[in-house]
Amino acid sequence: MTELPPLPFQARREIILSRLEGGSMVLPAAPVQFMGGDSEYRYRPDSELLYATGWAAPDCVAVLRGFADEDRFVLFVPERDAKAELWTGPRADVEEVCERFGADAVHPLRELAERGPGMLAGGDTIHCRLGASAGCDGVVREALRRGRVQRARKGAGAHVLADPGAVLDGMRVRKDEAEIARMREAARITVEAFRDALPGVRAGVGEWEVEAALESGFRRRGAGGPAFATIVAAGANACTLHYSANGSRIGPDDLVLIDAGAEYGWYAADITRTVPASGRLEGARREAHEVVRRARRAAMAACRPGGTVEEVHGEACRAIAEGLVGMGVVDGPADEVLAEKRHQAFFPHQTSHWLGLDTHDPGLYRDGDGPVRLEPGMVFTVEPGLYFAPGSCPRVPELEGTGIRIEDDVLITEEGAEVLTEGLPADIGVDG
Ligand code: GLY
Ligand code: MN
Ligand code: MN
Repeated sequence: MTELPPLPFQARREIILSRLEGGSMVLPAAPVQFMGGDSEYRYRPDSELLYATGWAAPDCVAVLRGFADEDRFVLFVPERDAKAELWTGPRADVEEVCERFGADAVHPLRELAERGPGMLAGGDTIHCRLGASAGCDGVVREALRRGRVQRARKGAGAHVLADPGAVLDGMRVRKDEAEIARMREAARITVEAFRDALPGVRAGVGEWEVEAALESGFRRRGAGGPAFATIVAAGANACTLHYSANGSRIGPDDLVLIDAGAEYGWYAADITRTVPASGRLEGARREAHEVVRRARRAAMAACRPGGTVEEVHGEACRAIAEGLVGMGVVDGPADEVLAEKRHQAFFPHQTSHWLGLDTHDPGLYRDGDGPVRLEPGMVFTVEPGLYFAPGSCPRVPELEGTGIRIEDDVLITEEGAEVLTEGLPADIGVDG
């Protein structure tokens, strides 16, 4: 497997702590999810805890105290327990955790309720997502109660509750070199798995078989698995944007929309290609595929430092509107279509979302100053589409029952942009 640079957890924490100023942050591990009974899903760590600490197992709470002189980074972790370890694997000693994760102090998780409120009450703002963990909610409530008393006497004490994302999202949206290395790898694996799986897309094949081919391609190449529920949508199924049942057989005239991405080192790739089961695309459907590719090109041209995701979307929408007019689906001119938002009947979603530890990575697209400017290190998708649900397009009935999306992953660089998923041509599979 590829050698990857280490993730800079300590440097990240220094930034977080400096931004917390007079406050604190509480990050609980994601809970274990059950399929039913006591069968567990494979564990997926909480992205915020992972980002700040590298902790990737259940049952942990990290406390960051920007207002304090000591114990600025404290971990609460499960203790050694031979019985539990028999089922879920070995745990590290408290000392080992301290050293491995660079914490100032490590305590058993069972001491959180007792120690937590006192650790948090002295800072003004507690960053904690309510509802993420009942244990942390209780600690924060008690810290706010104590903070109110302290503040009256000492002039400082917990009295504001804030979202951790207010500090973390802005950091996560700019990827560092170690993150970009993981995202390149996720993209490479996804491209290769698509290349392997696409020749198997033909009439009579089950959508589930294509899903299996893709996901086995991810795992065989060392990915953790799919970053999100794989979509293999034949014919009209592609008009359901989040279709993931993948339970139909591909018909001879179907266009097949495939949206999948590997997760590598916890970072996601997200690719969509749309291919004809027959290996050949003709007439209006060929034109529609070309329109989406034109929208992709126009959107890509707007991906540059100083640009905005809104501009990228604007370019895609213009190309889609012009294409719809050109195909006779709607009456022009395109400017009027855009002004009246008539293109949205066939292109109802945004062109881009941030990509990273989460497939829909957090981060603002617009802040108090307007649209957020693109900067080197930002990674997002470009995914224009056209969807013609049955009954939606009486003027060009041949288009009905097809959904076309083409999606790539883009990294903003100093010079412009790099398409991480460039290895997979946008028109792959269209001409046999
Ligand atoms: N695969 C989910 C998305 O494209 O947003
Ligand atoms: Mn996407
Ligand atoms: Mn996608």
